[in-house]
Amino acid sequence: MELEGNVALVTGAASGLGEASMRRLVASGARVVMCDLNEERAKGITDELGDKVLFVKTDVRSEDDVLAALGAAEGMGELVGVVHCAGAGIAARTLGRDGTPHPLDDFRKIIELNLVGTFNVLRLTAATMARNEPNESGLRGAIVNTASIAAFEGQIGQIAYGASKAGIVGMTIIAARDLAAVGVRTCTIAPGTMFTPVMALTPEPMRDHLVASVAAPKRMGAPEEFAALALHIIENDYLNGETIRLDGGNRFPAK
Ligand SMILES: NC(=O)c1ccc[n+]([C@@H]2O[C@H](COP(=O)([O-])OP(=O)(O)OC[C@H]3O[C@@H](n4cnc5c(N)ncnc54)[C@H](O)[C@@H]3O)[C@@H](O)[C@H]2O)c1
Repeated sequence: MELEGNVALVTGAASGLGEASMRRLVASGARVVMCDLNEERAKGITDELGDKVLFVKTDVRSEDDVLAALGAAEGMGELVGVVHCAGAGIAARTLGRDGTPHPLDDFRKIIELNLVGTFNVLRLTAATMARNEPNESGLRGAIVNTASIAAFEGQIGQIAYGASKAGIVGMTIIAARDLAAVGVRTCTIAPGTMFTPVMALTPEPMRDHLVASVAAPKRMGAPEEFAALALHIIENDYLNGETIRLDGGNRFPAK
């Protein structure tokens, strides 16, 4: 898809992987709709980037919010790319050390945010893209979702998070097939450990442990490396229905 002069929508755009993606898309000549709940962080970014970005306070779990963000973007140009990064995790075992079962509400909350939120953004943005003029390949847009390598080898305590991310991986080929009729591609990035703000707050011994299972380069991934892949997926019309690991050859151990 051609980004120059067109519009992209990024969720979780006020921090980490979403912010890096949003900056990369702006640098590629797109105007970007920034969706996030964090108004304070978003304001700092919009002050810096001016009219290249439009922040709309959006809860990705809400139909009304995502429709409002799409509505606010009308008139900015054709929406040709989506990078969906809003998400979070918790740490809790299926049975706690004292035998207490994982709180069901906590499990539901993570599924709702990571999996239902992803599907909500996917279905509503695809409906908007379906109205675009097709490009020379008959395509109208591309959607990039964010899973995690925990979808494949989730660690102890990642039962809710890993299940939500595995759902995103599972949706990827189905969404690509469902949306073929309207020329919208879907791919997923499954990052390993990336150096986002939350990681910066992690104590150094924990960071060393997280990097120990990375093959090479022996470090966390940079948000800009995620952004570069997200941009490539949007621009490369032959990528579709695939989940791409971005992890330096990392294979998570059990803990
Ligand atoms: N950082 C990593 O190592 C890593 C690894 C694998 C996968 N991921 C995934 O990448 C995505 C982004 O991670 P990050 O490290 O950049 O996180 P982050 O916490 O830095 O950014 C997430 C952003 O999402 C926003 N957000 C949270 N809930 C929201 C909601 N309901 N609606 C709209 N916005 C919401 C937050 O306000 C925040 O700005 C997440 O889905 C995460 O699971 C991250």
